[in-house]
Amino acid sequence: MKYIKTLVEPPIAILKIDRETHLNALNIDVIQQLSAELDILESLEGVRVVIIIGAGNKAFVAGADIKEFANYSIEQGEDLSKRGQDALFNKIENFKKPIIAAINGYALGGGLELALSCHMRVASENAKMGLPECSLGLIPGYGGTQRLVRTIGRTHATEMILTSRVINVDFAEKIGLINVKSSQEELLKTAKKLATSCVNNSPKSLETAIKCINKNFDKSGLIFEQKEFGQLFGTSEFAEGVSAFLEKRKPNY
Ligand code: COA
Repeated sequence: MKYIKTLVEPPIAILKIDRETHLNALNIDVIQQLSAELDILESLEGVRVVIIIGAGNKAFVAGADIKEFANYSIEQGEDLSKRGQDALFNKIENFKKPIIAAINGYALGGGLELALSCHMRVASENAKMGLPECSLGLIPGYGGTQRLVRTIGRTHATEMILTSRVINVDFAEKIGLINVKSSQEELLKTAKKLATSCVNNSPKSLETAIKCINKNFDKSGLIFEQKEFGQLFGTSEFAEGVSAFLEKRKPNY
């Protein structure tokens, strides 16, 4: 199954995550395909900026695929986090060209973590953002505990993670989670406008600036998060959280 649609409109490339029936949830195939497309775009000289968007008008990405990891062991949980971070989230953050997330609806869990890995974020008025992993008996495992704090600061990040609160676009703009807000119809246009503001700059300067911006990001936090994320797969609270999601009910902890 092909989950990524790539549209190259030099100097911009658009990657669309196309798994609308599951609100574009990130299963292993989506992650691998997105990673492979990024490798191609990084070497395409005509492409200067990449935009990532979700298919449809309901979700950017509604998280990691809960059904896929529902029965994972501790080792598989840690591996899921490690592989995902290596293959995609860290790759995006350290990409040589700017990547913009166009958040066109739900950006929850791994979806928000994906957007946080991107260098900039634009969001439509219907966007809803949050890290609800603690409501599932987990924690963010694709860098969310590190990148959200770094992006919006400890006060709001801690509240968002500990409460699983889902926020709207106005609040996201207020706390600096997104760069630009847009109507749903104009989202891609808004993302392209931001992309165009970068494309006349020196590609080598953009690459170097990204490298320097990321320089002080302590990678040990990401590795610590992977291990802690994995441990939670061995708990009865994880089993309850995931069962509750699958049975479409509230968990009872
Ligand atoms: N993983 C796997 N499947 C998911 C998913 C995810 N993260 N998010 C949504 N889906 C699936 C649903 O299970 C449903 O599939 P089904 O029709 O086979 O039951 C389909 O996508 C549509 O979602 P649904 O829940 O029916 O839409 P909704 O409008 O009622 O609710 C959300 C939308 C985003 C609020 C809800 O889907 C949700 O809470 N998703 C999980 C968010 C989350 O916890 N993400 C973090 C994961 S670590």
